[in-house]
Amino acid sequence: MITRRAFLGAGTTGAVALAFTNESLAKVAEAAARTAGTAPSDLAADETYWREIQQAFTLDRTIINLNNGGCCPSPRVVHEAFKRYLDESNQAPVYHMWQILEPNIESVRRRLAAAFGCSPDEMAITRNASEALQIAQLGIDLKPGDEVVTTNQDYGRMLDTWDARVRRHGITVKKISFPVPPPSMDDLADRLISAIGPRTKVLHFCHITNLTGQIFPVRTICDAARAKGVKTIVDGAHAFAHFPYRVQDLNCDYYGTSLHKWLLAPIGTGFLYVRRENIEGLWELTPTAASRAKDIRKFEEIGTHPAANHNAIAEALSFHEGMGGERKAARLRYLRDRWAKRLTATGRFKVHTSLDPAQSCAIGTVQVLGVDTNKAVQQLWDKWRIIATPINHAEYTGIRVTPNVYTTLEEIDTFGDAMERVASAS
Ligand SMILES: Cc1ncc(COP(=O)(O)O)c(C=O)c1O
Repeated sequence: MITRRAFLGAGTTGAVALAFTNESLAKVAEAAARTAGTAPSDLAADETYWREIQQAFTLDRTIINLNNGGCCPSPRVVHEAFKRYLDESNQAPVYHMWQILEPNIESVRRRLAAAFGCSPDEMAITRNASEALQIAQLGIDLKPGDEVVTTNQDYGRMLDTWDARVRRHGITVKKISFPVPPPSMDDLADRLISAIGPRTKVLHFCHITNLTGQIFPVRTICDAARAKGVKTIVDGAHAFAHFPYRVQDLNCDYYGTSLHKWLLAPIGTGFLYVRRENIEGLWELTPTAASRAKDIRKFEEIGTHPAANHNAIAEALSFHEGMGGERKAARLRYLRDRWAKRLTATGRFKVHTSLDPAQSCAIGTVQVLGVDTNKAVQQLWDKWRIIATPINHAEYTGIRVTPNVYTTLEEIDTFGDAMERVASAS
């Protein structure tokens, strides 16, 4: 086994650099093999290693992008593949795109399904998490009076989608509230499970929220819902490739995620998981022939669309696997802790995100006490060219901060300095 010291000492860092800055996925795999003996917690603080990852991206380093919750840049190797597939398609799309590239979506499905832990026949590739979740939300048969239980911190578009069914189909929606951070994960589970009533048919909640990065105890909630005959839709927009888990750890009925967030795949990618027994009963958003009712691919019948986006997911998976999910999560928590612990120590900030590793990862939301959140975010941009996201929820306010694997310590510390200046100017 190669230790971290031996690995660095042996001068293999150059090999890692090559791996992540050229297009050779074989070299990514080689770099992963060379660092296989390094514990994620050790690697999290190894700036030599992370510098190589940082350089795998073509970024604008005159800005500090701490909004990786929106969508993320792809590493060069992914973006190059994406462009290559676009160029190839443009030769004669009816041949190069439809006949050569499009069938390869099956390789992407197979690999994504393996990473998620489901059968390829339970996974549809979508354009984003919204599409994935809306297929589930709009495709489930519900009668007037049927109830959906969710939270008032779920994603706006998903809540709007349920509201549309309230108006259109006469269902009811119950939105529970919870404190940030919550007293415990059990408290979160209790709130959702105890909200299930006799008319509840669906429970819809986030694996990890976009507002504060709170991770939910998905398995506990889904097990309880299943025991009561209630279907579960889990919004995993921010979860996949952010921190490690597999579908077996969740036990949900439907799961939707974005791949242009934490997997770093091209913009316009996501997937929908539908537990096998639910596929036939779930209507498509874009209907297909009745003969395809049991085929997960029925959800992909969206008409003409680029093959480049979904095919380059394969390179994003290779990049992710080369880095390693555990290592990535450890680094993201390391970056989050660096700014969050520093700011908490000053007494001038309130961090709304639990720093318990079971409850959060890269995303953290922090309030500058006594300062209007929108003004603070504007100052961060105007004076330091830092991009962060204002969160103005009815029950709390704060700045959402999401670094990524390409974020440097210098960028995190500049953010910390800037926040202290914003707080002391108040
Ligand atoms: C919790 C949550 N759900 C769903 C979405 C929608 O994701 P997408 O933009 O990929 O459709 C987002 C996007 O930020 C989100 O944060």
